[in-house]
Amino acid sequence: MPNNPGHTFMIATRYENMEPTGEARGLPQPPLALPAPEGAPLIPLPGIGEMEPPALSLHQAIANRRTGRRYSEQPLSLSELAYLLWATQGVQQITTRPTTLRTVPSAGSRHAFETYLLVNRVEGLEPGLYRYVALTHELAQLQTGPEKAEEITAACRNQKQILNSAVTFLWAAEVERMTWRYGDRGYRYLHLDAGHICQNLYLAGEALDCRCCAIAAFDDKALNDALGLDGEARFVTYVATLGKKVE
Ligand SMILES: Cc1cc2nc3c(=O)[nH]c(=O)nc-3n(C[C@H](O)[C@H](O)[C@H](O)COP(=O)(O)O)c2cc1C
Repeated sequence: MPNNPGHTFMIATRYENMEPTGEARGLPQPPLALPAPEGAPLIPLPGIGEMEPPALSLHQAIANRRTGRRYSEQPLSLSELAYLLWATQGVQQITTRPTTLRTVPSAGSRHAFETYLLVNRVEGLEPGLYRYVALTHELAQLQTGPEKAEEITAACRNQKQILNSAVTFLWAAEVERMTWRYGDRGYRYLHLDAGHICQNLYLAGEALDCRCCAIAAFDDKALNDALGLDGEARFVTYVATLGKKVE
């Protein structure tokens, strides 16, 4: 083994007390992101370069950040939603490894999350359930209508801020994308990664005059069922509501 503490750390964290991972067994790595579901309508999102960056300083965003569970009736624009998706999961580069580099850090750059959106009030979008297609910066429309809002609210122990939000983000882990490299330890990294994503939503939301509420109090099975996830290979890790501030 090379006399390199960084290298030793990587080997130790990958293999100590572990079955060989998918990567160690030479299995191909899982896709960098899920493709759009077949047949789902796709909505292109405004590119980040087309938007004026918000004026709020990072200092002000950090200082002002507060959890909010009440939101104004004002909808989000599609550009604002696109900005929040970019800030939380936007793909900036695909490296030669290949791996994605995004606006948030991720263990081994595995970026194992898919973002589902419950849309209630976003200009140009019918209320319903969507999924962010990160590699093409598009939204896949999964289901329209009010039913999913009620189902997801009930699964989150009837937290009414979900029904009142302009949009609710649901981050679902694609477990193999992480454990392919890190084995069981990857579960820890999934939860750490989720925190980075949600914090960026809080801060970027502040810059758009929004409030955000992180949510982890939910019924795992009911919420995974609502999104059509099996709860093992794919499961919701973290949820956050967001909407414009009330005066
Ligand atoms: C991991 C985590 C889970 C949370 N889950 C919920 C939740 O299910 N419902 C809720 O209303 N707030 C939830 N919160 C928000 C906290 O209650 C909030 O951050 C805390 O009261 C501190 O307030 P502040 O964010 O305004 O500083 C959660 C926050 C975190 C970090």
